[in-house]
Parts: sequence; C-alpha cells; structure tokens
Amino acid sequence: MIGKLNHVAIAVPDLTVAAARYTAMGASVSATVDLPEHGVQVIFVELTNTHLELLAPLGENSPVAAFLERYPEGGMHHICLEVEDIHTAIEQAGAEGTRVLGNGQPRVGAHEKPVVFLHPKDMNGVLVELQQA
Ligand code: CO
Repeated sequence: MIGKLNHVAIAVPDLTVAAARYTAMGASVSATVDLPEHGVQVIFVELTNTHLELLAPLGENSPVAAFLERYPEGGMHHICLEVEDIHTAIEQAGAEGTRVLGNGQPRVGAHEKPVVFLHPKDMNGVLVELQQA
C-alpha cells in the first residue's frame, strides 16, 4: 500500500543559492551531504509534514547533470512515496504495466532504505521513487 509523501526532490544548479532562499523563508536546512554512490550532493529542507531534497550533480554520470542540461534553472526531479513492502509495491505497479527503472530490483537509496524508481512515462511525466518505510 502506498503511504506518506517522503520527500520532493528538486534539481538545482547551485545548492548554496537554493538553500539560502528556503532559509530566508524560515525553513531549517541541513549542511551539504555528499552521496557519491548516487552521484549527487544534497541539502535537506525540513518542512513540518515532509522534506525537500535539493539535488546538485556530484562526479561523472550524475543522474542530475543530464536533467540540468535540459532544465538549466533546475526543476522538480522526483517525488518519493513510502510503501510498506517494496517487493509488493513493484508487483502492484507492474500489474498496471508501470515500468520500474534499472534492473527492476530495489537498491539502497539515499536514506539507507530499499527504493525503486517508476518510469516517468508511465507516471504522467513524473519520476516517482518508492521507498520502503
Ligand atoms: Co529521492
């Protein structure tokens, strides 16, 4: 079953500039976190009911670099929804013909939990991350 919104990820060309805008509006933001295995640098913006992840490319072949080439000002990269059981969620999505990116198997995401990404073409143009709660 699909549960809470875990986060909304926004690709940004400059993390410091992006974080300053949220800080100015009173949000609490984290220090920059490097996630080399995911090819991103992240700043977390805490909201009362969820959080935002500001993403900038890190290293070669970052998934965010290609996105920023298409959208140089940045943009919404993905949303992350929590699921109880990732394997059940993959099966349920597949029953409607929704494709899982990569090899179709979960991998460990930025929060040390199993995640998969659903194909944006099957999700009305939105890249959807499913994360086991
Ligand atoms: Co995410």
